[in-house]
Amino acid sequence: MNDANAYNKLLEKNLEWVNRKNKEDKDFFSRLSRIQTPQFLWIGCSDSRVPANEITDTDPGEIFVHRNIANMVIHTDMNLLSVLDYAVNVLEVNHVIVCGHYGCGGVKAAMGNKQYGVIDNWIRHIKDV
Ligand code: CO
Repeated sequence: MNDANAYNKLLEKNLEWVNRKNKEDKDFFSRLSRIQTPQFLWIGCSDSRVPANEITDTDPGEIFVHRNIANMVIHTDMNLLSVLDYAVNVLEVNHVIVCGHYGCGGVKAAMGNKQYGVIDNWIRHIKDV
């Protein structure tokens, strides 16, 4: 599959999903556009194999998600801190989940001595531990 076909497939699949959702629940998108009231903040790995909604069988609107390589919570990461603060103090989530996974490439990279580039700065936090 060439590159254009690959992203066109994403657009087609998105349209199919929208049509399916509208068929199941005609108010689904209008409800989602008005408000989000997730019960959970999910801090997970960017790894394409661990999408929060897919693996918990939840819908858009149910989980507020932050992802980074190796699902790290770093006290100087303003992106993570902004997400956490907003989730707890504005959205008032009841639960904060930090979810790791088997076979994490970030953790594997941190356990070795190979250099990968910019990512080396990020996985340094794991190496320090
Ligand atoms: Co990972």
